[in-house]
Amino acid sequence: MDLNCNKLTTIEGKNINFRIVEENDAEFILLLRTDSALNKNISAVENDVVKQRNWITSRKNSREWYFIIENKVNKPVGTIRIYDLIEDSFCWGSWIILPEERMRSSFESAILLYEYAFFTLGFSQSHFDVRKNNKSVINFHLRMGSVIVKEDYENFHFIFKKEDYILRRKDHFAMIDKIARRAYFKADSNS
Ligand SMILES: CC(C)(COP(=O)(O)OP(=O)(O)OC[C@H]1O[C@@H](n2cnc3c(N)ncnc32)[C@H](O)[C@@H]1OP(=O)(O)O)[C@@H](O)C(=O)NCCC(=O)NCCS
Repeated sequence: MDLNCNKLTTIEGKNINFRIVEENDAEFILLLRTDSALNKNISAVENDVVKQRNWITSRKNSREWYFIIENKVNKPVGTIRIYDLIEDSFCWGSWIILPEERMRSSFESAILLYEYAFFTLGFSQSHFDVRKNNKSVINFHLRMGSVIVKEDYENFHFIFKKEDYILRRKDHFAMIDKIARRAYFKADSNS
């Protein structure tokens, strides 16, 4: 596996792109993470831009990929992160998207991440946890084929195997095309 996260600049999707987080993204990240409608089910951060910038710097040489999700005109719409690599398994999280951008971005962001982690980086499994209160995200993962393997007081712990991702891969690509068409027609009817 080539796990050099410093080599990567962008990942291009159909409706969105990923680019590696930079210090200048600290304000955008805080905007997301301090919004009380968005941060109910994620870990808290201090509302301090300098600390956030320093945190981004401190992560630079660690084995993780922290992405800004951007739309096709390079507007930041969210974040997503691959981290906690354990042998052939990766954890992912920090998944937050502005509500008005979700229709076009949410589904594809998860697929772009899985494509990159399973097929470019070469992992064969993903592990992650989701707060028990976060019903819609739990449903998202169950629908994708992830399995709950453990629970604690606050979280469900999931595993998602590459072979199970592959079972529905074609359907996922078709869904991304559908989202692109839907967004196109919506933009057209607004003009
Ligand atoms: C996490 C987050 C980015 C997920 O985005 P979301 O838009 O709420 O995700 P959804 O479950 O609605 O799924 C997005 C779309 O994919 C579709 N979808 C989900 N799984 C699917 C599947 N397996 N096959 C086809 N479509 C699927 C959904 O139907 C939905 O489509 P719609 O927009 O037409 O209804 C967003 O909720 C968020 O930013 N939340 C705040 C932070 C947070 O809680 N993060 C998670 C921490 S674990």
